[in-house]
Amino acid sequence: MTDPAPALTDLVSPALLTGQVAFVTGGGSGINLAIADAFASVGADVAICGRTPEKLETAAETLRRHGTRILTAPADVRDADALHVAMDRAATELGRIDTVVAGAAGNFFAPAESISPNGFRTVIDIDLQGSFHTARAAFEHLKATRGNILFVSAGQSYLPFAYQAHVGAAKAGVDNLMANLALEWGRHGIRSNSVVPGPIEGTEGMKRLSEPMGADIWTRSVPLGRFGRLDEIAAAAVVLSSPLASYVTGARLVVDGGLGLSGLGAISQAVAGAAATP
Ligand code: COA
Repeated sequence: MTDPAPALTDLVSPALLTGQVAFVTGGGSGINLAIADAFASVGADVAICGRTPEKLETAAETLRRHGTRILTAPADVRDADALHVAMDRAATELGRIDTVVAGAAGNFFAPAESISPNGFRTVIDIDLQGSFHTARAAFEHLKATRGNILFVSAGQSYLPFAYQAHVGAAKAGVDNLMANLALEWGRHGIRSNSVVPGPIEGTEGMKRLSEPMGADIWTRSVPLGRFGRLDEIAAAAVVLSSPLASYVTGARLVVDGGLGLSGLGAISQAVAGAAATP
């Protein structure tokens, strides 16, 4: 049973981020759209970036109900030049960029012994190289506003997980990049942090991870006994990106209901068992 979800604006000021601008990669759907939505709900103007213009437009329509300025910025994070252009345009049209969320990611289940080199590289390219491209495109804008960058990591970054070697390698790199940027860019007033979502209901990633062996093993493995909600990740993202966390940099905020505390052994074995069943 999922707890009732209080609106973010019942918990913090609806003007928490008024006057600020957020740029969210992968913002057309899932966790990143929920983050974009939360930013807009507390007053931020938001640019959402993704590969598919139509998907971005649909997402933007939902975000506009909050009454802030919403921009679509189509680009593939694997294309550094296109991302630069998209971010520069967002800064010009919205006036500034205070927060960049590096959220774009790709994932699929694949055993390490059979994933192709191109399959492995594709996930590294989107998740890790794409996060680097995002950070590079953001630097001058964040330096100007003494802003912050928030990476969307994953539990696979620190817990081995069956058939996720490519994702684990990429996300471990993302968290290391996050910490390096915190170290290097702190002198410019730029903060750099990661949010690490656990099993969040209603996401494409969770759908794929639940399919092989059902949802029960997940809820049984989570100390809080339930899936997380999109708005719970979004709330953590808002806190980390807002003045509420003005002295927080280099942090990995794990939002997983405690799942990582006991490791993922049982789940990994269930994944492997389900995959082995004809
Ligand atoms: N299992 C094994 N390999 C896979 C795969 C799978 N399920 N899906 C893709 N690959 C491999 C492809 O075979 C290809 O390698 P090859 O050239 O050696 O055959 C390589 O990855 C690139 O695949 P392609 O489909 O051309 O890449 P893409 O850039 O169009 O899309 C993803 C890659 C990861 C984005 C795609 O799998 C996808 O759309 N995923 C769903 C969305 C998603 O991941 N959302 C995030 C959830 S956290």
